[in-house]
Amino acid sequence: MASTDVDLVRRGLPKIYLPTTARRTASRWFRLRAVRRDQTAKSPGLNTTISPRDDMFAWSDPAGYFGTGRWAARKIQESLVRFGPDEPRRILDFPCGYGRVLRHLRLFWPDAEIVGGELLPDAVDFCHTVLGAISLQSSDPLWEVELGGPYDVIWSGSLLTHFDEGYWGATLRHLGEALGRPGLFLFTTLGHRSYEVLSGSDKYPAITKATAYRCGLADEDADRLLASVDATGFGFSHYPGKTGDPYGLAIAMPEWVERVLTKANLRLLAFEEGGWVGHQDLWTVSADADG
Ligand SMILES: C[S@@+](CC[C@H](N)C(=O)[O-])C[C@H]1O[C@@H](n2cnc3c(N)ncnc32)[C@H](O)[C@@H]1O
Repeated sequence: MASTDVDLVRRGLPKIYLPTTARRTASRWFRLRAVRRDQTAKSPGLNTTISPRDDMFAWSDPAGYFGTGRWAARKIQESLVRFGPDEPRRILDFPCGYGRVLRHLRLFWPDAEIVGGELLPDAVDFCHTVLGAISLQSSDPLWEVELGGPYDVIWSGSLLTHFDEGYWGATLRHLGEALGRPGLFLFTTLGHRSYEVLSGSDKYPAITKATAYRCGLADEDADRLLASVDATGFGFSHYPGKTGDPYGLAIAMPEWVERVLTKANLRLLAFEEGGWVGHQDLWTVSADADG
């Protein structure tokens, strides 16, 4: 086993020896081996190395990590069949994190140039050295970063889900400007389903189960966010104790997002509520011919 596996298996467990720790460590080793075997059977050739610093990987659902990434690649593939271009030569994954999706992009389009853009230098490095991506170091605000377009496909999973409204137009415009013509830009947002979950409704039990209590927000912040969505179609909140950080939680109703798209000179091609693993809304857009 690689040293990344050792760190991944030990992640979050007490450093001192306890019988329970030993049992959990052993159980994780078996689960990691089993999940690798299953995922390799589903996607032969898939790189299954996980960074111990990848917060998207949860020991409560190791297979879900791979399923979420594969789902994104399949959605991109469906969109390419529907709207073209036929065979993407340049793909940008932004933000790529530690490659939850990027590893599948590599597998689906082995001949394409795959660029991984991220704020975390360690994640950029992992995607380069382990998954073979071209590195793109991001910064804040991201619209000041040279993205190196044009790209045939841009995938942006769970980025706008974390930013206040002032970020949306500039982010969408900047990513749209890096898009080729033809070119597809797919991005995800939190919409009606997340609104229901944050409200405490049990309409989407699978999402509720996979989500932290009130999505990790303080009760009063969650209530304020929902009230803002009711009033304007958009709501944002910082995470507890992180008010200085632009990164929080955003819920945007589809009509609100459509207005921002128009202002950003992007043409809506497709929208699917819950289109990414049943939770996040999935948008497919292209650069407006007049933009
Ligand atoms: C919820 S994660 C999603 C990561 C990846 N898309 C995935 O699905 O695994 C959001 C990511 O956005 C990154 N991020 C935050 N601000 C950013 C910025 N200004 N430029 C690029 N990435 C940023 C964070 O570092 C984090 O990895």
